[in-house]
Amino acid sequence: MIRSAIIGCGSYSPERVMTNADFEGLVDTSDEWIVQRTGIRQRHIASEGETTADLGEKAARAALADAGIGIDQVDLIILATSTPNNTFPATAVEIQHRLGMTHGAAFDSQAVCSGFIFALTTADQYIRTGYAKTVLVIGAETFSRLLDWTDRTTCVLFGDGAGAVVVSAVEGEGTSADRGILTAHLRSDGAHRDKLYVDGGPSTTGTIGHLRMEGREVFRHAVGMITDVIEAAYAATGLGSDDIDWFIPHQANRRIIEASAKKLGIPAEKTVITVDRHGNTSAASIPLALAHTVREGKIRRGDLLLLEAMGGGFTWGSVLLRW
Ligand code: ACO
Repeated sequence: MIRSAIIGCGSYSPERVMTNADFEGLVDTSDEWIVQRTGIRQRHIASEGETTADLGEKAARAALADAGIGIDQVDLIILATSTPNNTFPATAVEIQHRLGMTHGAAFDSQAVCSGFIFALTTADQYIRTGYAKTVLVIGAETFSRLLDWTDRTTCVLFGDGAGAVVVSAVEGEGTSADRGILTAHLRSDGAHRDKLYVDGGPSTTGTIGHLRMEGREVFRHAVGMITDVIEAAYAATGLGSDDIDWFIPHQANRRIIEASAKKLGIPAEKTVITVDRHGNTSAASIPLALAHTVREGKIRRGDLLLLEAMGGGFTWGSVLLRW
């Protein structure tokens, strides 16, 4: 059977770094509060004029170089973002153009912080049906542009960045020993749409709006939703927490990650945490964490990777794959 394997990955973080101390003059907060509640120590912020397409393009080029392929071999580009350059066209087509791709197609996918999981799952479907052989999946965000910089309950949590993977068709036996994506599970429930949203948009206010969040409510649902889709992945494959080599969760908050890992029985040394250095970069956070772990030389061929995310909507999902 056809499986979708990640054959390359890359990331890009803007040069400008904002530490927790940098917030102390802006809002009533402290490094101690932010570290204790979230684990975040710094985040990267796009410079003036630096856009989601700029970040996404750099991550995409890094992923293509890592895969050792040219853009001519890519059939489809899927960009996960909630902070597009423009309301339309899709920022994916801007990146497609910049990469010099004049064939195939490119489109954006929007599931907020679960965006990368949704885009990767979409790529897997296109590959397994034979529609595409190679898909470039990018998560890129400039969340700094959506923040209310006077609201201490949200502005300290987010950052800008991008990550990308090249996913390509490989032959598998149909067993859990195969290389590639073994199973993927997506969920959403719009009953929670008001708990994490942006209070603007083209069809409502005609403005971009600002991110609004009931943090405690998000936290209350997060661990249960994350374990729900991970248990679905285990049920679909017969694999379990003992089989996982690397748990690479969405990087929103250290406490959510640690509580989820603990509930699932995944040890700390197998749990990737990078939120301390880039904050919550929404759809970019998983490919950023993945690329970081790959660069450190930790992930070996054959390792079992568990990816998961939960975010606005609410949306949540998991992807279980063999490297
Ligand atoms: N600095 C100092 N104090 C603060 C700050 C801050 N930056 N922010 C809030 N506080 C205060 C609050 O005002 C409150 O004060 P009060 O008791 O006088 O009213 C106090 O700290 C406690 O506030 P809580 O909201 O109860 O703090 P909590 O421990 O829940 O931590 C946090 C807040 C970090 C937001 C937490 O709820 C959380 O992580 N939630 C999940 C958020 C998340 O992961 N969102 C991303 C989802 S992904 C996506 O789709 C974008």
